[in-house]
Amino acid sequence: MTHFLDIHTTSPDDLRAIIDNAAAMKSARAGLPKGTPDVDQPLANHMVALIFEKPSTRTRISFDVGVRQMGGETMVLSGKDMQLGHGETIADTARVLSRYVDLIMIRTFEEQTLLEMAEYASVPVINGLTDRTHPCQIMADILTFEEHNGPIKGKKVVWSGDGNNVFASFAHAAKQFEFDLVFTGPETLQPEPALDGLYTTVRDPDAAVAGADLVVTDTWVSMHDPQSARERRHNQLRGYQVNTALMNKAKPDALFMHCLPAHRDDEATSEVMDGPNSVIWDEAENRLHAQKAVMRHCLGR
Ligand code: CP
Ligand code: NVA
Repeated sequence: MTHFLDIHTTSPDDLRAIIDNAAAMKSARAGLPKGTPDVDQPLANHMVALIFEKPSTRTRISFDVGVRQMGGETMVLSGKDMQLGHGETIADTARVLSRYVDLIMIRTFEEQTLLEMAEYASVPVINGLTDRTHPCQIMADILTFEEHNGPIKGKKVVWSGDGNNVFASFAHAAKQFEFDLVFTGPETLQPEPALDGLYTTVRDPDAAVAGADLVVTDTWVSMHDPQSARERRHNQLRGYQVNTALMNKAKPDALFMHCLPAHRDDEATSEVMDGPNSVIWDEAENRLHAQKAVMRHCLGR
């Protein structure tokens, strides 16, 4: 059984196959109405559970549409409406769900919940974001980069801001896809030590971004961060805003990405988000194509 739990637990060959498959599937349905079924219907007769313990727009809708395009059926479940939210163990939930559905996608808080779900499920489990990682997002980001600027191998990617869960998946991807990753952000919001060795730190944002092929940022306050930390985080991160002055330090054809949702004019200015180097809408669209390829990988179809 093949789960998709993280970038670093998936082999470089499998990751490459997923990206290439996503690109091929995307081009095969270019210009078609969104509900047009894919010709080969690889998920025909398959049931997919999409479990959310946190809010979501992109992940929820892109998985739902992707499954339907491939001929399967989805059920979108809120963790708090399930017995999961009322004391039934993850292990028991996983065993039961496996009798009803062919694939489980879960967005949750603690990574341990995801890992337990995968351990006790007898169907594949996909990570739709935890407090620690967001691998599906980074698959979409690699697809997006390569569509615009060619192979990511050997390129310079700069993350400006909070060393959070999305950064962690970028760090895992830097090793698997062989690109250089630079973190620029305050020492207090440095990525977790488990990621040491996967990236370099340059504290000054202007110096960090020099020669970048891709500049990435994310919200300054993630869903798992306490709202009480908001003001402190804003004060710590203000100097790492991605604005036109910072983008001008990167290569002229450098791309700008943000997984969204964004807080405009906090972590990135609207001028950058809506500017000529921004690929944020392609990035959001590519969640759909990348995840369809991830699901096919998990189901061996
Ligand atoms: N980028 C992302 O995962 O967005 P949602 O939280 O809307 O799913
Ligand atoms: N870092 C953000 C990503 C949202 C898609 C969060 O975890 O809230």
